[in-house]
Formats: sequence, C-alpha cells, structure tokens
Amino acid sequence: MPNPSLLILPGDGIGPEVMAEVRKIIDWFGANQGLKFDVSEDLVGGAAYDVHGVPLADETMAKAQEVDAVLLGAVGGPKYDNLDFSLKPERGLLRLRKEMDLFSNLRPAQCFDALADFSSLKKDVVAGLDIMIVRELTSGVYFGEPRGIFEEGNERVGINTQRYTESEIERAARSAFELAMRRNKKLCSMEKANVMESGVLWREVVTRVGKEYPEVELSHMYADNGAMQLVRAPKQFDVIVTDNLFGDILSDCAAMLTGSLGMLPSASLGAPMANGRPKALYEPVHGSAPDIAGQGKANPIACILSFAMALRYSFDQGAEADRLEAAVEKVLADGVRTADLLGEEGVTPVSTTQMGDAVVAALDASL
Ligand code: NAI
Ligand code: MG
Repeated sequence: MPNPSLLILPGDGIGPEVMAEVRKIIDWFGANQGLKFDVSEDLVGGAAYDVHGVPLADETMAKAQEVDAVLLGAVGGPKYDNLDFSLKPERGLLRLRKEMDLFSNLRPAQCFDALADFSSLKKDVVAGLDIMIVRELTSGVYFGEPRGIFEEGNERVGINTQRYTESEIERAARSAFELAMRRNKKLCSMEKANVMESGVLWREVVTRVGKEYPEVELSHMYADNGAMQLVRAPKQFDVIVTDNLFGDILSDCAAMLTGSLGMLPSASLGAPMANGRPKALYEPVHGSAPDIAGQGKANPIACILSFAMALRYSFDQGAEADRLEAAVEKVLADGVRTADLLGEEGVTPVSTTQMGDAVVAALDASL
C-alpha cells in the first residue's frame, strides 16, 4: 500500500510559520508511529500570485484533486488588497473549496480546561465544552441566483437568493449524521422553517435522512434561538448541522466561546474518492495575521489541531488524533502560552517554534 498523500499549502503571512510546526508533528508520527505520509508542498494565495500571477495554479489545483488530504495555512495580506477581485489570494482558497466540491464544513468548538478562564462566558458554562458545527459550504444564499444589484424604478435593489436543492441538503445532513454516529449520537439541525421555505425543506429532508440513523437523537431548532442557546448553555449540544449563512455566523459564535482564534481548526469534506476517503481540506480558522507575521508570535495550535482532524477524518487514525489533542492539552495545562493566550500576569509568552517543540515533547512523553 502506498503511503497516504498530503498536499501542504502554507500560503501567506503566518501560514508558513504555523505550517513549519505542523511539519514537525507530521515527521514525529512518521518516525514514532510508522505513520508515513507522502508530503508535497505548493503555493496558494499571494505566494502563488507572486510566482504564477494567479492565486492558485492549475497544476496545484490538479494536485489537490489527487491527494488524500490538503492542509492549508492561511492566505491574504495588505500587499494584495488592491488586486483585481479575481486575483485576490482568497480566490485561491475559494477555488479549492469549489472545485473539490467541499460541501461539509466541520468546525469544532472545544474548550481546553486550561483556557476556560479565557472565554468571555463564565467558566462553568464552557469548561469541558466539546461540540461540532457542520456548515453546508457550497450552496445557499452565498451562491443562489438571481443575485446582484439592479435598478428598480428610481432606486437600486440588492438581491441574493437562498436556494437549496434536496440533494444538497441531503448530503450535508448525511455527513452530519455520520459524524454524530462517531461522536455522541446527538444532532441538532438549525434553520428558520418558521419564515423561510428553504428552511421548511431543510427540516423535511434532515428528518427523512434521520430515519436511516435511528440511533441518533435528532432535534430541530430555529437558528436565532440556536444562537441564543449557544451562548446560554452550549453544552446542551453535540453536533449541530445548518446551512451556509447560519453556519457562517453560528460557527464563529460557537468557536469564540473557547477563547483565541489561534486555537481553532476546521475541516472541509466532500464526496468519497475511489479509495473511500472523502475529498478533504484542513485549515485553521484564522487568517494570515499580517499584524504579527514574521515575528514568531503566531500560535500554531489551530493548524496543529487541523492536522489532528486530518488524522481522524481522512486517515482513520482516531487514536493518534486523540494522542495529538492530548499533547496539546498537556502543553496548555503546563502553562505554555503563545502571546495570544496570555491572560494571567507574569507569564512570559513562548514563540511559535517553542510551542511546536513543546507539543512534540508532549508527544514524546505520551509513548
Ligand atoms: P486574522 O485571522 O488574520 O487575524 C485576526 C486577529 O487575530 C489578528 O490580530 C491576528 O494577529 C490574530 N491571530 C490570528 N491568528 C492567530 C494565531 N494563529 N496566533 C496568534 N494570533 C492570531 O484575520 P484578519 O486580520 O481579518 O485578516 C488578515 C488577512 O487574512 C486578510 O488578508 C484576510 O483576507 C485573510 N484571511 C484569510 C483567511 C484564510 O486564509 N482562511 C481567513 C480570514 C482572513
Ligand atoms: Mg466567517
């Protein structure tokens, strides 16, 4: 059997800095657990524009379609702000998501005990929190037609269309049920079926797919109430599935329950490939952080935890994903902090590299 393949796209700003730490982790699993990957690296975003004049070269796109998983750092930066819309670094990322047809976006919100004080909510509301939001990523109001700004009488009208087909809802729902089966068999679907027909259809299709998963306890909630419940009592949830727009907002909201942007991983999954693995892109939630780029201050944990998600969802290495997450938890419990995680007085922050090294040391200690 060939080694599983991994395409690494560090991107811009702090992307390459955090990815360098992930490379250490990947090497650790190869050296210590016999988990060898065929790793290749390429350009995306501004880094690709600088070399190829486009934010994602066709060859890179083709490579992304072939590998078992793509791991991306971050794209963008002030240097590229004045580029034509179609050449902006973000377009490289959007092209990957679109052409790989990554319809299911997994955003965990997990509160590490050592960081519970960091949340804007009371400690007992978030301590031990571990939920997952599944956001439909390729359809809905961000893509529906008609869209645009049109003349209407003597004024203009801005139009976007919320549009979901049954099959689009069905595949998102199915990926959420599959996830619920691997976790605690509890799924809450959120829409606004009270005021939106697309929400009525969403609820109907999710309910129908749910019949195939009788073990999963399915509930439905209006998304506005969902937002309220997320900040009131987030631990009532396990897996949440919702559409693109509500998912964009609810996942940011849920994620921030746990503290820093520097801690948040994500996965975007598509249909299964010939080898049974889903098309997959893993990336931290944060951007290229130009304000701290090049200073060794970036927290690499979001990117490291994104690789843990790859271990779990692309490579069926759940135990090794647990090991990596436990290593991160230990490092945090030991008080190791990058600058973004400073709350307490008198703690000296570690650098990006030192944080990566600390996670590797915790992995060593786990053997
Ligand atoms: P950002 O996520 O890059 O930064 C927001 C704030 O969080 C900054 O103060 C930054 O220093 C801090 N931060 C982010 N990640 C951190 C980390 N790992 N460790 C420590 N601190 C961290 O978002 P912003 O500033 O809105 O955007 C900056 C650039 O990134 C823009 O060009 C934007 O388009 C791009 N961007 C790219 C994304 C992606 O590649 N997926 C997502 C969001 C923004
Ligand atoms: Mg967002």
